[in-house]
Amino acid sequence: MKNLVVLISGRGSNLKAIIDAIECGKIKAKISLVLSNKKDAKGLEIAQSYGIKTKFVDPSFFASRKGYDIYIAELIKKENPDLIVLAGYMRILSDEFIDAFDGKIVNIHPSLVPSFQGKNAQKQAIEFGSLITGCSVHFVTKELDNGPVIIQAAVPVLPEDTEETLSNRILQYEHRIYPQAIKWILEDRVNVKGRKVIVKDAKYGTIPINPALEDF
Ligand code: GAR
Repeated sequence: MKNLVVLISGRGSNLKAIIDAIECGKIKAKISLVLSNKKDAKGLEIAQSYGIKTKFVDPSFFASRKGYDIYIAELIKKENPDLIVLAGYMRILSDEFIDAFDGKIVNIHPSLVPSFQGKNAQKQAIEFGSLITGCSVHFVTKELDNGPVIIQAAVPVLPEDTEETLSNRILQYEHRIYPQAIKWILEDRVNVKGRKVIVKDAKYGTIPINPALEDF
């Protein structure tokens, strides 16, 4: 049985989408640990309600980011994970952590990477005046929100959008693409060549995305 470790910092809706995909048999794996850097992360309660082991590790007990990451890397290694899933984990990972699990860490980011990296990606998209944004699942490299892209969903930005309405629209697609990408990886269908990710037997197609497309 393949094994996931999920890192969170908050609400845990992506974690819940992954748990749902496991529960209904779409992803054949278990989550052996959900780890948070925030004590009050709602996602910890979600995990506990499914009997999943959780751990909060307090960053304030560590003098450096590196010290924290070496500590959590040791905890994670004990779980022997096939994949480490960042699901709203809002801490930059040190190079030491990334080296320890090279090619085995994935992240979801609420933009079409490489646009709008870092925090508040949805707000950045609105302020920039983008008409289309979206979400991306990518492998984690030492560059923030910038690793090889496994799957993306395009989402329109509507004129009346607030950060909240846009975030909610994007989130619906996050919940679809993250379990999908994890399933592909665990089925050994994902190959990375440089920046390019090739998914074996994936169906590619076109998507109508422009919100203001008229006959012309
Ligand atoms: C999600 O929108 C995720 O894409 C974003 O945080 C939210 C977590 O929600 N992650 C980042 O911005 C990472 N840079 P969740 O806790 O409900 O899954």
